[in-house]
Amino acid sequence: MEFKIAVLGGDGIGPEVTAQGVMVLKALERLYGHRFDLEYGDVGGASMDNHGTPLLPEVRDLAASADAVLFGAVGGPKWDDPSASQHPEDALLQLRAHLGVFANIRPVKVYQWLADSSVLKPAVLEGVDLVVVRELTGGLYYAQPKGRTQTPQGISAVDTMRYNEEEIERVLRVGFELARSRRGRLASVDKANVLECSRLWRQTAIRLAPEYPEVELEHVLVDSCAMQLIQQPSRFDVIVTENTFGDILTDEASVLAASMGVLPSASLAGVPRSGGTIPGFYEPIHGTAPDIAGKGIANPIGSILSVAMMARYSLGLTEEAAWVERGVEQVLADGYRTADIAVAGASPVGTEEMGGLILAAMERGR
Ligand code: IPM
Ligand code: MN
Repeated sequence: MEFKIAVLGGDGIGPEVTAQGVMVLKALERLYGHRFDLEYGDVGGASMDNHGTPLLPEVRDLAASADAVLFGAVGGPKWDDPSASQHPEDALLQLRAHLGVFANIRPVKVYQWLADSSVLKPAVLEGVDLVVVRELTGGLYYAQPKGRTQTPQGISAVDTMRYNEEEIERVLRVGFELARSRRGRLASVDKANVLECSRLWRQTAIRLAPEYPEVELEHVLVDSCAMQLIQQPSRFDVIVTENTFGDILTDEASVLAASMGVLPSASLAGVPRSGGTIPGFYEPIHGTAPDIAGKGIANPIGSILSVAMMARYSLGLTEEAAWVERGVEQVLADGYRTADIAVAGASPVGTEEMGGLILAAMERGR
């Protein structure tokens, strides 16, 4: 099979970890005989420096024409000025909107071997295997009005949370479908005691529920969800929530997995199906980590597992996806750790070394 993959490494550790994701794609070419036409583009701060804009139209078109996008991360202190007219993050937000990838799938799986690396007690982490479905193209991030005006009281700023029923329904359906294919539990997370958008969200969930009799739906307020994610995380199967809530809750949930460095994500314009071939946008959930950028110590597992998700949902390569995931698990089971997941006293491996170890484990495990 031949596929076109857009590779957008971005800033900070983005390009370093993405290079390891690419290394895994090349392994799929070698060992399974697939062909990947890899097309690279600048994005974020790198694009601002080189082209004066966070996202060139041709890079946007490249992403839109690809079977899948492998994305790194964007942003950094160099471009952090809040009064600037453009920001590296604009590239990511524009790409998500342009590709229409409204469902961001963020699985949080706790690997038993990493329990010691977590700040939480092992007993709390036992059996944690959840997926957050974050609405990605609406809400506070995008709705109008948005901006600043000069008022007699000084500058005034506004962001708007707005959702229509259609936007809510399509992402809730992704949650229901995922729950149906997993343990059958869906937590719809909202703030229906205060926000009108959340009341519409909850009503829509209640309206759809009868179509999914095998799914047990519950409504959880976002503040309570934040607490329960730490107190009793194994109670969750699938969580579905709006954009901003999902942004915050997924950073929190990453603590369960010991490090953000190991977590992948997929953003899709529909329901993820194993063996499916819908175009998608794949990125580790971590950011650019400017403090360790260029040092060769970042954890590539988030990017590598994002490639596995890409194989499964956009390239129809289920077996290959499982093969990548087994490689990662083997290396963790063997005790190799990058700095972010290393336990005191152990000597960590670097980004490339970790990538190489995973590749070797994949080759052995085939
Ligand atoms: C994420 C990031 C982005 C977001 C930023 C970089 C715009 O935090 O993917 O979670 O807020 O969506
Ligand atoms: Mn985030």
